[in-house]
Amino acid sequence: MPLTALHTTASFQALHAHYAAIKDRSLRDLFAPASAPPRFEQFSLKAAGIFLDYAKNNITAETMEHLFALARERQVESRRAAMFAGEKINTTEHRAVLHTALRAPAQPALAIDGQQVSADVHAVLQRIKTFAGALRSGAWLGYSGKPITDIVNIGIGGSDLGPKMVCQALRPYQQAGLHLHFVSNVDGDDMDAVLQQVDPRTTLFVIASKTFTTAETMMNAHSARNWFLQNGVGAQESDLRKHFVAVSTNVEGVTAFGIDPSNMFPFWDWVGGRYSVWSSIGLSVALAVGFDRFSEFLDGAHAMDQHFQSAPLEQNMPVIMALLGIWYRDFFDYRSVSIAPYHQDLGNFPSYLQQLEMESNGKRVALDGSTLEIATCPIIWGNVGTNGQHAYFQLLHQGSDITPVDFIATLSASHQLPGHQAALLANCFAQSEAFMRGKNAEEVQTEMQAKGMSAEQIAALLPHRTFPGNRPSNTLLMDALTPANLGALIALYEHKVFVQGVIWGVNSFDQWGVELGKVLASNILNELTGTPAPQSHDSSTNGLIAMARKAL
Ligand code: F6P
Repeated sequence: MPLTALHTTASFQALHAHYAAIKDRSLRDLFAPASAPPRFEQFSLKAAGIFLDYAKNNITAETMEHLFALARERQVESRRAAMFAGEKINTTEHRAVLHTALRAPAQPALAIDGQQVSADVHAVLQRIKTFAGALRSGAWLGYSGKPITDIVNIGIGGSDLGPKMVCQALRPYQQAGLHLHFVSNVDGDDMDAVLQQVDPRTTLFVIASKTFTTAETMMNAHSARNWFLQNGVGAQESDLRKHFVAVSTNVEGVTAFGIDPSNMFPFWDWVGGRYSVWSSIGLSVALAVGFDRFSEFLDGAHAMDQHFQSAPLEQNMPVIMALLGIWYRDFFDYRSVSIAPYHQDLGNFPSYLQQLEMESNGKRVALDGSTLEIATCPIIWGNVGTNGQHAYFQLLHQGSDITPVDFIATLSASHQLPGHQAALLANCFAQSEAFMRGKNAEEVQTEMQAKGMSAEQIAALLPHRTFPGNRPSNTLLMDALTPANLGALIALYEHKVFVQGVIWGVNSFDQWGVELGKVLASNILNELTGTPAPQSHDSSTNGLIAMARKAL
C-alpha cells in the first residue's frame, strides 16, 4: 500500500508553518517569561526509573501539539500495536519484530506462526540460568578440571556491542575473579591481545552470531578453536565442548563448526541483531553479573515497554524523544546528535546507539520503495563527559553546526570516592545550561571590564569569547545505574528509534546497506592471494590490491 509521503502530510506542513513562526525564538527567550509555567515542570516526565528533562529544547506547548498530531497522522499507535502483536512489520525480510517478547513475562503467552514465543523465550532463559549458575559457582569445569576464569565473547555488531556495553555498564555487579573479554575485529590484533591474557584450561569462548556466517566472527572463532587445540596442553577435539558455546539462530552452522547443539543457546529470526542483547546474545551478561541481575535488566526494559505501550502520546517518553529528534532533523536541519553519558561505565553507550539508530534508520527509501524527500537518521556520536568537554565540546559550544545533545547521568554513584559524583553532576548540568544560555556580548563585555581589561583588548576578544547559546539538549537522569534502569534506558532508545522509523516511513529492521561491502570484501580477499592479479577494479582499488599482494 503506498505510503503518503511525509512532507505532504497536513501535520508536517503545519509544522513547517509553525517552524517559520518560532525558529528565531531563542531558548533563553523561552525560559525568560516569569509568568509562563516553569518549563522544567512543563517539559519533564518520569517513566520506568528514567527521568527526562526536555525543557532545554526549542519547543513551546504549541510545538509539541503539532508534533503529537504528526505522530497520530503517521499512525504511531497502530504501528506500535502491530509490533507488539508480532505482525511482520519487517516487510523486506518478511519477519516479525519481537525483541519486546524477550523481556515479557511468560503470561499472557504470545504465539506467532505456530511458534509458542513466550514458552520458547522462557525455556531458553531457564537454560541460561542453569548454565550461568554452573559456570559462576565453579561447577562447570574446563578440560583439565579447573573452573572457568575468563569468558571471551566473539561476535560483531549486535552480537558484540550490546553485551559489551551492558557488561561494562554493570561492572560493579560483576563476579570477582571472572574476567570478560570481547573480540569483534577481524584484525588479528584484537584476538591476539586477548589470547595473550588467557589460559586455555580456564577460558570459555562464547561464539555469538545470529547468522553464524558473519565473516569476521567465523574467522575469529576458528582462530580461537585452533589456539585452544594448539595451546591447551593435552587438549583434544572432544574437549572443545567444555570451552566453546554458541549463541545463534543457525543450528546447522553451529554444528558444522563443531559445537554440540546442547552447547547452543538459540534465538529466533524475529530478533534483529541490534535488538538482541535481551536474547541469548545476553549470555555473556548473565555470566558476568548472574542470572538474577540479568532478569532485573529484562524487567527494566519490560517496564519501559509497558510505558511505551500504554502512556498517551503526550506523556510517552520514547514518543517525545522521537518527535524532538524529528523536529531538529527535518525542520532545523541539525545533522548529528551527540550522546554524553556522565557515567564512566556507560562509555560504550554511544557506540551501542550508533548501531541501534544508524543501522535502523539510516535509510533513504520508504517502505513502499519510493525515495524519501525528507532527511532521516542523524549521525550519532559521543563519548563520556567530562572527557568530551576537553575534546570536542568546543565545537558544540561555538562551532558553525548546532548539535543537539543527550546528557545521561545518575544521581548517585556506584563508587565511594568522596567529591567525584558532585563534580561530575556539576559539569553535566553546567554544560546543558551553557549550551542553552550561551554568553552574549554584553555579558562578556561586563566580565572583561570587571577584570580591568582595556577597550582595545575587549574589542579584540569579544567575538571569540561570545557564546551564541540556543543549543538544545535533553537530560536523562536515573537514581543509579542498576540493571533495571539500564534495561529501561536501552528500551527507551529502541522505542524512540521505532517511532522515528514509523514517522519517516522506513523499515527500521533491515540493513541491506551492509551487504555491498561484505560481498566486495570477499571478492577482494580471493584476489589478494590468487593469480593473476586483478585488473577489473578502478585504478585506485587495483593499485591498493597490488600493494597488498606484494606485502602478504
Ligand atoms: O552489520 C550487519 C550485521 O548484520 C548486524 O546487523 C549484526 O548485528 C551483525 O552484522 C552481526 O551479525 P551476526 O550476529 O549474524 O554475526
